[in-house]
Parts: sequence; structure tokens; C-alpha cells
Amino acid sequence: MAFKTNKGATAQSDAEVTSRVEALLSQMSLAEKIGQLTQLGVAEFVPGQKPEEVIRRGGAGSVLWLNNTKRFNELQKVAVEESPSKIPLLFALDVIHGYRTVFPVPLAMAASWDPAVTERSQTVAAREARAAGLHWTFAPMLDIARDARWGRIVEGAGEDPYLGAAMAAAQVRGFQGKQLGASDRVVACAKHFAGYGASDGGRDYDPVYLSESQLRNVYFPPFEAAVKAGVGTFMSAYMDLNDVPASGNRWLLRDILRGEWGFQGFVVSDAFAVGNLVMQGHARDGRDAAFRALSAGLDMDMASNTYADHLTGLVEEGSIPTEIIDASVRTILAIKVRMGLFENPYTDEGLLAEVVALPEHRQESRFAAQRSMVLLRNEGHLLPLSKTLKQVAVIGTLADSKTATEGSWMVFGHVPAAVTVLEGIRAKLSNATVEYAPGPEIQRDIASWFDSFGGDPKKEPQTVEDSEAAFQAALVAARRAELVIMVLGEHANMSGEAASRASLDLPGRQEELLKAVVALGKPVVLVLLNGRPLSINWAAQNVPAILEAWEPGTEGGHAVADILFGDAVPGGKLPVAFPRSGSHMPLYYSRNLTHSPEGSPMYNPRYWDGLPTPLYPFGYGLSYTTFSITNLNISAPQVKVGDVLTVTADVTNTGTVAGDEVVQLYIHQRAGSDSRPMRLLKGFERVTLQPGETKTITFQLGPSELGYWSTNVGQWLQDAEAFDLWVGSDSLATLHAEFAVVR
Ligand code: NOJ
Repeated sequence: MAFKTNKGATAQSDAEVTSRVEALLSQMSLAEKIGQLTQLGVAEFVPGQKPEEVIRRGGAGSVLWLNNTKRFNELQKVAVEESPSKIPLLFALDVIHGYRTVFPVPLAMAASWDPAVTERSQTVAAREARAAGLHWTFAPMLDIARDARWGRIVEGAGEDPYLGAAMAAAQVRGFQGKQLGASDRVVACAKHFAGYGASDGGRDYDPVYLSESQLRNVYFPPFEAAVKAGVGTFMSAYMDLNDVPASGNRWLLRDILRGEWGFQGFVVSDAFAVGNLVMQGHARDGRDAAFRALSAGLDMDMASNTYADHLTGLVEEGSIPTEIIDASVRTILAIKVRMGLFENPYTDEGLLAEVVALPEHRQESRFAAQRSMVLLRNEGHLLPLSKTLKQVAVIGTLADSKTATEGSWMVFGHVPAAVTVLEGIRAKLSNATVEYAPGPEIQRDIASWFDSFGGDPKKEPQTVEDSEAAFQAALVAARRAELVIMVLGEHANMSGEAASRASLDLPGRQEELLKAVVALGKPVVLVLLNGRPLSINWAAQNVPAILEAWEPGTEGGHAVADILFGDAVPGGKLPVAFPRSGSHMPLYYSRNLTHSPEGSPMYNPRYWDGLPTPLYPFGYGLSYTTFSITNLNISAPQVKVGDVLTVTADVTNTGTVAGDEVVQLYIHQRAGSDSRPMRLLKGFERVTLQPGETKTITFQLGPSELGYWSTNVGQWLQDAEAFDLWVGSDSLATLHAEFAVVR
């Protein structure tokens, strides 16, 4: 079939969009309108759907879990030629950190502290996804996560709202471009609104209890930043928020999102979430669920068919006014009009191959991976390694796993194609013997439901004998080597959805193997591949060099080797603290003071069986060079409420190689209407400096940095109070100044 390709839309004024939407709406039947509010789940686990039939009668506005350009065109043809109002479908998928060219997972991208590289990564992801025929991605995931037991911490930007907001806006810009309608961009979806990252005990889907102050000061800022960046859609979260499911939560979806933030796009539920209002013990039955969700402001039902089954009856009996249906349909049609789908509904089936072949895609991926890695330890300057090494052992089952290198969400027909760490090291050491020993396998104690959608091919679990043989073989390889590179961490299915865990230790026999290798007395470098902080206490004391490489994507192996051998200098910083134990969760730097703070005469230890402080704090990361941060200067000792204070500091590369420092600014309000956290990140900048070079970094502190939402007053405010301020290279920064906000 010859199809017109996705050329994109010409810019349309709001008035033009509105008049086209109204013209469409006036000709649509109620059934078609409800169809637009229905997202059809085209996947084997959704029974009883015959997509063509549903689409032909105008029963679907969008399709998800399909990843096939030819099939997109076939279904689109039914929609635009055979359905009553000929409205094109929106094809949606989870394109979270790359489509074919895979980028580091979002937690890793946040570790770059580089919104520009994050934006470019999602631009590439959008270009490839759109070339495949997708219009809409379920990303960015904007849930603040302060509990690393929660598996989905990998999908977000970590623990901090300020960094999270910067990454949120960057991702929206990357996916969508300046305005909806570019032929190489997709519509973004800010998810999961809201609070999902704070599930009880870090257990995925469990209820969330957050005060309004926590929501507004910590959990909402990335979402509000996405709205300001023009995000087209939102996804409601699964769980109960303060006893009201997020998908039936009028306060979230109407009062905050539309009322306060002025969001004009549409809200889709999470998968099956409308139907699940019954399962969750909130709605009486499907009809009640449809009523509650739509009334709360949820426009599109993802895959549960509850709207399709019940909205007609609810309108006919008068429980739901047609105006509410129309209001939701308008928001969906407007996106389709702005995207240019009425003019260009199809995708050229040859486009993806051309786009994926663009060399800059892999270059961007390698660059992003380099930027995201965090050097946690480097005793005796073991790193960077020499390329004249002759005999190296690479050990660990993750070292040669493409799926572990690509990380989570690479599902629905994705074929892993990453360069593994082993391959990257071999490419760098072409004249050396690089011996590989996987060591014992690691696996989840309880299998993942998601394994059927991708991941490593299923194998029988290793026997005790095979595990022991692999353990011993690894020691043999280590004994022969001059230097050992251990690649340890978690498989891709050990973080992500339904991948929470109680312990944050290295799974399986990895630490046991690490100890045995270190005991051989060889120099050992530990490379971590994982999607969450891990409690690596023993390694932090006994392994001289530790590189956090996360799940680094298609070019991950090359990027790891670039860093290990000094072709790139690490400059990433932790976007979330590394705890000493999983049982210390939640743990975050931005907590309130107490009557017994550390260092006070009244100080009492928080736990009597160990330090409660992080193993590595938020914002932490080393380089191959050193930096000094000096000359902290504030524009005035006092600033009036509403005015802006300017802060400057000089950062100097005091070492012998070029490198990057992320200069971070933290504030603390000493007293006020509410108790305020002892530190809050309110500015950062990643800079590259040559040896001896100095740059002056400038930060602005205005009402949005100095204000907050007060529980006591019940509104946003800025107190006139004294503040501390620190500038430095992590959340323990010591370079200090003080200022006051006055009326
Ligand atoms: C469930 C997940 O929670 C959500 O993040 C995802 O976008 C949808 N499934 C669709 O795959």
C-alpha cells in the first residue's frame, strides 16, 4: 500500500484547532465520543479484542502495546477510511529511554545532572519512535522516589524535586519539541500522577500516604514543571493516595492539574486502572468505576474497557452530562489535530531503518552514558587504567548481558542490541588477553510477570554444582589476570514495575565472589550495572575503584570502557543516596532537623546497630581530577520577599586532566511558618574545566526557590527569615554563607 508519510503539521492557531475540534464534535455520535475516550490494549494478555472491529465502529481513540509499523498503517486505514467520523488513532507505547537506540535509564540520565543531554536523548528517542509510527510515549516518569526498595526508582530522576523538575522539563522538550506537530516528535505523558514513588514499604502499588505539604513541596514539582514545558498528556497513578485512588481523584485531576496549573491536555489512566477501582475496593462495580473516574477528570481509559462498557448507560440515565464527555473528547481531538494526524495519518514503512542508521544516535547514546556514570571510589588513583595491560579478567554474569546493559522497559518486540561491558573492554584492549568468567548466575527469587514481554531468554535455574563450578572458574580467571574487572549488580528485571525488593544487597553470590576475588590480592575494579541504589558496604571499604554505570543503554559497554581507560572522565553525581541497608529506607538528604541533631549535646543515635547516614550522599561523585570551590559571594546580605538574590562561586580544576564538576547550591531556612528541611537543592550547574581553569558559577534565588507550601498557613508563601546557604560538590557541601529574607 502506498501511504502518505508522517510529515507533521503546519502550525495552527488555538482558534483554528478549536474550530476544527468543534466541527468534528458536532458530527460525532455518543458511541464515537466514548470511543475516543477508549484506549485499546492490543496485546496477548488483553482477551477478546478484535481491533479492526472496534476501530471500524469508532470504538477506539488510541491503541497501545503494538509495536509494528505495518500494523499501525493497517489499523489507521480502518480508522480514517472506514470509521464513522474518520478520526485517526493515536498509537502509544512506553518509549522510556530510547526506542531502537537505547539510552541510559532515567535514573542514570538524572545522574548526568545535565538537562541538555537528557533533552537530546529524548529527541532521538522521539525521532525513532515516530519513524516507527508511534505518536505518543508514556514518559517521562516523574515520580520522586526516596525508597530504593521500590523497583520503579529506575524510571525516575531520584529523590529530589528540584533536580526532578529540571529533568522533567528537559524530557518533555526532547519528546515534543517546541510545539506538538513536528514530524519527528511524539506527545509526552507525565506519569504517574501522583505520589506513586512513596508506596508503603517501597512495595509496588501499595497505598501512599503523603501530606499536602509533601505532595506540593516534594512530589508535585516535576509534574508542574512538565505542565509548564507544555506536556500534552498525563497518566494517573494506580495506587490509593490518602485513601482515594489516583485514577478517581478529583482533587488531583481537576483541582490541582487543571484548576491550579492550567493543564489543557488529557489524562489517561494507567493500564486497567479504571476497572481496577473495583478491585481496589473503591468502586462498587464497573459502572460506578466509570462514573467515578470520568467525574474525577480522567479522560481516557487505558485498556480496561470500563468506559466503553458503561458510559453510554450513565449518560442515558442522566448520571453523566454529555458536557463532561464532550470536554474530555475535545482534549483528545485537539492533540490529534495539533499533531497533524488528520493530514498525515500514516507512516512510511522504510523510514525507521533510515532514522536508526543516523550515526549521531549511537554517538548521543555513548555520550549520554559517559555523562551518567558516577565514580564512587578511586583509591590510589587505580582508575583510569592503562591500555598497556596484557591480561585482564572480566567477571560477572552481567558483564556480557545485552539486556542488563540496556535496562528496563525494552519490551514488546524490542531486540536487545547493546554493546556489553565485556565487548567494550575487548574493543579497548585489542592487544591484551581479556578472559571472561560469568561466575554464578543471579536471578529473582520470585519470577517477574513481565519476563514474558522481553528480557533474557529463559533458562533453567543453575544447579548448586554449576553455580560452584562457575564460582571456581571465575577465581581461576582472576588468578591468571594482572587486574580484575568485576561487573556486578542487578538484571534488568530486578528493578522496574513489580520489581521491589526488601534487601538492597547485591543479589545472589555476587558479594561472596567479590570477596574471594579481592582476597587474591590483585587490583580489582568494580563496575555496577543496576537500576537502583545498592548497599555495597563491603565493596565501599575493600574494593579500591567503584564505578556506578547504571543500565547504560546501547553503547553502554563502550561508555564503560571509555571511562575505565580514561577516554572519558567521570562527572556524574548521585541523584539519590546510596544507603547502608535496605532497612534504612526511605532515606533522603532533605529531611527536617530534630530536637537532637547530630553534633548537639542532646544527640542520640538514630539506630544503635549502625550508622543511619548514607553510604554515599545525594549529589556525590568523584572525577579523575580534583576541584576547589571558593569565593562564595551573595549579592546582598538581605533580600526582600519577592526579590532575587544572586549567588556566585568560583570552581577551579586543581588537578592535571580536564574534567566536569557539578556545582550544587543548597539552602536552609532557619525558622518559619513550618519547619523546613535542613538542606534543599536550589541550583546546580555541570561545567567542564581544563586543568587550572576557573569558572564563576551564578545562581539566582527568587521567590520560587525561597518559598514553599505551608501546612500551618495552608498556602504558598515566602517567610521573612534567616537562611543558610552552601555551595559545593555534593549535599554535604561545607562552603557556607547566610542571608535574610526581609519584608
Ligand atoms: C503500567 C505502568 O505502570 C505504566 O507506567 C505504563 O505506561 C503502562 N503500564 C502502559 O504500558
